[in-house]
Amino acid sequence: MISRDEIIELERSYLSQYYRKKNLVLVRGYGQYVWDIDGNMYLDCNTGYGVAFLGHCNKKIVNAVKEQVEKLLVCPMTFYNDARARFLKNFSRILPPKFGKIVLQNSGTEAVEAALKAARKYTKKRGILAFIGSFHGRTMGALSVTGNEKYRRPFEPLLPDVKFGRFNVVHDLDKLVTEDLAAVIVEPIQGEGGVNPATREFLKELRRLTEERGVLLIFDEVQTGFGRTGSIWAFENYGVEPDMFTVGKAVGGGLPIGALVIRKDLGDIFEPGEHGSTFGGNPLAMAAAAAACEVLLEDDVPGKAKEMGEYIMKKIENEISSSRYYLRVKGMGLMIGIELRREAEPFVDKLIEKRVLALSAGKTTLRLLPPYLINKRDVEEDLIPALIDVLEVKR
Ligand SMILES: Cc1ncc(COP(=O)(O)O)c(C=O)c1O
Repeated sequence: MISRDEIIELERSYLSQYYRKKNLVLVRGYGQYVWDIDGNMYLDCNTGYGVAFLGHCNKKIVNAVKEQVEKLLVCPMTFYNDARARFLKNFSRILPPKFGKIVLQNSGTEAVEAALKAARKYTKKRGILAFIGSFHGRTMGALSVTGNEKYRRPFEPLLPDVKFGRFNVVHDLDKLVTEDLAAVIVEPIQGEGGVNPATREFLKELRRLTEERGVLLIFDEVQTGFGRTGSIWAFENYGVEPDMFTVGKAVGGGLPIGALVIRKDLGDIFEPGEHGSTFGGNPLAMAAAAAACEVLLEDDVPGKAKEMGEYIMKKIENEISSSRYYLRVKGMGLMIGIELRREAEPFVDKLIEKRVLALSAGKTTLRLLPPYLINKRDVEEDLIPALIDVLEVKR
């Protein structure tokens, strides 16, 4: 068997070091837990940046993947395929009625690329409005609409004709949403930027102005989508529908996926040959995602995320808010941010020692993205005691 030290040495030697690594070797996962190579169990509120929202190694998804692995792994989009059709049938059941044209990709950033291309193609215009604090991905197009200098600066010049507005500042919008724009792109809740929910007024005004001025509205639901915020799509919490939205992360049940979802009445937008992806729509990801949609519906995942999210946020407020580091708790469903008076990353490290995996967001927000399976016992016996310890709550 390969040892812990050997694993770390191999990753250090051969992987380009573009991730700040935690000293932890994970080898197994089940439900809301993962195990390290020494057999220690962790409550997973990191879920691979939000991917394992349906839990690690969900039985239904594992079985679907096993079945597909032995049947067909490769089927390009030029041919029809049963796993892909099953996914589309299930996925269409979780779309609001207006939506139904889907572009299949392998990641969130690719879904955003597809959205930007589709917006330009459809409107025959070039400008994009995005927001300060946003995160849309690492490829050049998605990076161009990401409102954080840290990610952008080393790679400039990026796409021209992109401007950034202030998130949640309604009175700026009239000047920002100009008729020369192809699209406005926005996360209903900024994830990487600090778990900052948009206000209803902000999204409603964006919808009103984009409609009035012939500009497409794109919601990035890569992190917020698929039940995490207490409804299947975060925009459903707001009663505001975009023209297109991007999805990724949790939709694949653990396998890589991304997709752009377009309003049916906008038609196909891309002509054959204008867009594509070698792995997009591959049978394995499709089988996993088809099963993931079934889990989502059969197990009332959004309902559970809403209930547990409210429970966790209340617990945090009641039991953590006296910490000298604590500012406030924010978020929606199981997308939770604890805003601190200090940089959050050192607390992520300390939580690992307490057997809880979490994330940071922005500089000072401790981010929790647990699976919907997290239960009250996990919260009372593991999460809250760990937070009490690392945030030095006096009792
Ligand atoms: C809102 C949002 N959009 C896009 C992306 C990019 O997704 P991916 O890392 O799958 O390319 C992310 C990733 O964190 C995200 O949070």
